[in-house]
Amino acid sequence: ILFWAISITSIAQTKQEIQQTVEQAYLEFKDVQEGKNADYIKELARVDPSIFGIVVVDVEGNTYSAGDNFSKVSIQSVSKAFVLSLVLEESGPIVIKEKVGANATGFPFNSIIAMEINRESGINSMVNAGAIATTSLVSGNTAEEKWEAIVNKLSDFAGRRLEVDEAVYISEAGDNQRNVAQAQLLKAYDKIYFDADQSVDIYTRQCALSVNARDLATMAATLASGGNNPITNKRVVSPDAVSYTLPVMATAGLYENSGKWLYQTGLPAKSGVGGALIAVVPGKFGIAVVAPPLDEAGNSVKGQLAINYIVEKLKLNPY
Ligand code: DON
Repeated sequence: ILFWAISITSIAQTKQEIQQTVEQAYLEFKDVQEGKNADYIKELARVDPSIFGIVVVDVEGNTYSAGDNFSKVSIQSVSKAFVLSLVLEESGPIVIKEKVGANATGFPFNSIIAMEINRESGINSMVNAGAIATTSLVSGNTAEEKWEAIVNKLSDFAGRRLEVDEAVYISEAGDNQRNVAQAQLLKAYDKIYFDADQSVDIYTRQCALSVNARDLATMAATLASGGNNPITNKRVVSPDAVSYTLPVMATAGLYENSGKWLYQTGLPAKSGVGGALIAVVPGKFGIAVVAPPLDEAGNSVKGQLAINYIVEKLKLNPY
């Protein structure tokens, strides 16, 4: 009886401590004015820059939150981590290592120089070219089948049916010359595994899926719990797929600032130009922030500050 009393109390205290920490992070950074919404995708410049939500989901499905949990943004590059895990689940780790690569690029997310320099050694599924190649590897004989596989899997990660923000999709699709060029370059190098233009189109759609901080934290928590969604209790991908996804996120999830991020937090993470940032604490938590203003590398400013704060306060750096 004493044992139970002690353990229940300690869990309750911990939950309270986690919730307080999330609230403190929100208060600490809510007035930060630095950063700027992405505007190379015109629709993103129109998103309210004051949106700021922090959600933590633990591997038991408990949710801790502060600020704006429900405002939606486009998932953008955060989708790359989940599409990678889908391909790992379907095809195994060798396919990604040999057909895409898993090295750091050290360059911005849309860098063509990175493709040239790493032409032989491969790049990374977290940068645009590697992500388009990864999307091209998703199962399905047609674009429609591949898209269904992606939207179904990402929806399972989130625990609800995700939908495309059509305005964002149309805006990016109309202004997508750089990604189209990268896909054509992949084709020239034999590094894309489906029609190049259709692969970019599917990738652009996956980036336009609309999510809030709760969705993102649930998705991250599913990775934290080895591929089992802790809210729906549905197995989404295998522990193996997760164990190859997280190192790729750690290597290039925040692009050229991935080393600095790993140095500070020790956690695999992924940013998106819509203002989303997720971090995964394996076996413990998924953490998500939505806050659109970005730094020069395209990473949410408040997202980085808030997650750093939470990691430090709750001592979540595994190193
Ligand atoms: O392809 C693009 O440029 C966008 N759809 C995604 C880029 C992105 O999110 C970079 N992230 N921080």
